[in-house]
Amino acid sequence: MTHRSNLVSADSTTLRGAASPSRLVATVVPVARVEGSPTIPGDKSISHRSLILGAIAGGVTEITDILESEDVQSTAACLQKLGVHITKVGERTIVNGRGMNGFSQATNALDCGNSGTTMRLLMGLLSGMGLEAELTGDASLVRRPMKRVAEPLRQMGAKLLLSREQFAPLTVSGAPLKAIRYDLKIASAQVKSAILLAALSADGETEITGEIHSRDHTERMLHHFGVAIDVSATAIRLRGGQSLQATPVHVPGDPSTAAFWIAAATLLPGSRVRMENVSLNPTRIGFIRALQRMGANIVLDVTSEHPEPVGRIEVRSATLKGVTITEAEVPSLIDELPLLAVAATQALGETLVEGAAELRVKETDRIDAVATNLRAMGAEMEVRADGYRIVGLQTLHGATVRSFHDHRIAMAFSIAGLFATGQTLIEDAQCVAISYPEFYGTLAELTRT
Ligand code: S3P
Repeated sequence: MTHRSNLVSADSTTLRGAASPSRLVATVVPVARVEGSPTIPGDKSISHRSLILGAIAGGVTEITDILESEDVQSTAACLQKLGVHITKVGERTIVNGRGMNGFSQATNALDCGNSGTTMRLLMGLLSGMGLEAELTGDASLVRRPMKRVAEPLRQMGAKLLLSREQFAPLTVSGAPLKAIRYDLKIASAQVKSAILLAALSADGETEITGEIHSRDHTERMLHHFGVAIDVSATAIRLRGGQSLQATPVHVPGDPSTAAFWIAAATLLPGSRVRMENVSLNPTRIGFIRALQRMGANIVLDVTSEHPEPVGRIEVRSATLKGVTITEAEVPSLIDELPLLAVAATQALGETLVEGAAELRVKETDRIDAVATNLRAMGAEMEVRADGYRIVGLQTLHGATVRSFHDHRIAMAFSIAGLFATGQTLIEDAQCVAISYPEFYGTLAELTRT
């Protein structure tokens, strides 16, 4: 393995082209190790929720360290079109809450960009408000399933019109809502959150049972904004008609972002990476737990617990063995499963992921995307309907790989490029800005040693 720092190159002509979206080809070359203490940008899920709850609260919410990325920008822009005043003052984002009934009618469609969280949470929120809104998104988002959200909302009385009964563009016409008891069949935090946001304006107490153990930021943050919400091991209950009180929100670092440096430090011998102030919410750290089972040297230190567990992550390199990921743990590492596949090629023996069919309806089909790119790099992966099987150790060869316009695929294969032989080109790598605009800058810093 050569010891050179990675490069990022861009075709400046297409980058400057105004008519077509900017396209960046990232070039990653092998490095000996990664070392440093990167600052991890704010958690994407918490950032979306802080804007949305701030918008419907009474009073002014101050958010510190919000993630500044395209997805979060989509939520902010939609809320602004609904009349919410959001400003940036230094490190703080100020949201002038308008209460549950203070939004204004948007004059044109709300563009959720690439962000499923924006669209699904707004579907729930707007269902019980006295206005009509059209929600749309980019080429990826208009192909993602929305009926899973529409179905419980319609049971509550929501009026939703979906394209071909399944997709965006879609229209939400505010209607009086009634509480429901809903047995959630998909372990999706976005669906759960949409129901909870609708439940705020529903008549009576809504109860959600079933697959409720996905990320719990909405539950925690509603409580932080003064809402009485009852969360037990088997059910979530929320009474409608409650109002939210503005409160300061500090957004911790995103563990799904930290995951890239955790993987790089684990896989490259002699590496050491330390990250402070990262969310260590148990519903989000399945990737860390899986790597630890594989033999990784990761030490967590929780420094504060409320409203979100936050702390320090220290990683040193280690040799890995394969692991089995069961359906029950999938929600806690769903966004890290492409990266886990990359790591699995460097783990001795079999890594098996089961019960992760949700990967097929993310920003792209992440099972097929990972298989295509791993094969381009000379590795083998068994594709399954609901996951994958990889047997290591395998040598990856530098190759041209595709992002499939999916930020997590672009970043996972940039990490693969750090230990592949030769140079790896990642096409359409500009999509990292959806969740981590500084990704390539931080990569350059960590590999400069
Ligand atoms: C998210 C939930 C997850 C995750 C997405 C963010 C959220 O999606 O994949 O990146 O903020 O609620 P699902 O809830 O659809 O699994």
